Amino acid sequence: MSKKFKVLITREIPSNAFEILSKKCELEIFNKNEPISRSALKDLIRDKDGVICLLSEEIDKEIVDLGKNLRVISSYAVGYNNIDVEYATKKGIAVTNTPGILTDATADLAWALLLGIVRRIAEGDRMIRSTGFKGWGPLLLLGGDLYGKTLGIIGAGRIGAAVAKRSIGWNMKILYFDRNINSELERECNAKQADLDTLVSESDFVSLHLPLSEETHHLFNRKTLRQMKSSAFLVNTARGAIVEEKALIQALREKWIAGAGLDVYEFEPEVSEELLKLENVLLLPHIGSATKFTREEMARIAAENLLAVLEGNQPIAVVNPEVLEKS
Ligand code: DGY
Repeated sequence: MSKKFKVLITREIPSNAFEILSKKCELEIFNKNEPISRSALKDLIRDKDGVICLLSEEIDKEIVDLGKNLRVISSYAVGYNNIDVEYATKKGIAVTNTPGILTDATADLAWALLLGIVRRIAEGDRMIRSTGFKGWGPLLLLGGDLYGKTLGIIGAGRIGAAVAKRSIGWNMKILYFDRNINSELERECNAKQADLDTLVSESDFVSLHLPLSEETHHLFNRKTLRQMKSSAFLVNTARGAIVEEKALIQALREKWIAGAGLDVYEFEPEVSEELLKLENVLLLPHIGSATKFTREEMARIAAENLLAVLEGNQPIAVVNPEVLEKS
């Protein structure tokens, strides 16, 4: 029997991944119930042919260089801003990800945040638990309306488009900011492409769906937040650093905008103390893709991607296909 591939999985993920890999791979799973430390990652990557990693791990030049035998970095996520793809490409290492499968779960969560913050769901829950329900009140927890309002989608890729399509029941006007025209979205939702300034100043709700890059880092800053309507809400299920957190805190505290729903944070997993003190923000712990089905499918795709590269086959999704073309 041929030698097994040496594979590191940096955290326990759904077990279907192990079933796919275990016949052909010698698996090392860092399955303590906490993120792998930098030093453990440095240590464990040394003799591995492949790694399945999480979005919270920095796979930079140092890690890539330590992985002398590394042929594939399989990200258990669609986003890969934590991986130095350029350097991995230079070293001939394939980087794979799990796009598509988490679109619906993430779009649902964006809507949960939107409805939750607009209708003050978490405030109601906190109130009942702390002071009890004292009876129906004409002025109790008055929120905003969604019907017929304008939804601005920043990034009209798979997830952005899925969020927009879910708005049909609310009869919303859709604006989208994207360098590409999304004709399907325009046809199905009567969506209109807009420049950033127009979208930000005309939308009642703005939902972020861009990857994090140098270009999108702090795209939402003091200037952008100032341009939003004071009645508007911001939702971020993409990456925290697309929003300058300090500016957002000021915007929420000084009521430049009405509120925000966040699943991601600039300094994740740290959440600014100031955010915790504000009532007009709904906070979730990065659970956009956290449904049982989605996480199992992500595990399957991450495992199949990894094995495909190691066996010289085409993975389901690869970020740097040029590496595979060369080999
Ligand atoms: C991703 O895959 O990039 C998501 O943020 C994980 O939920």
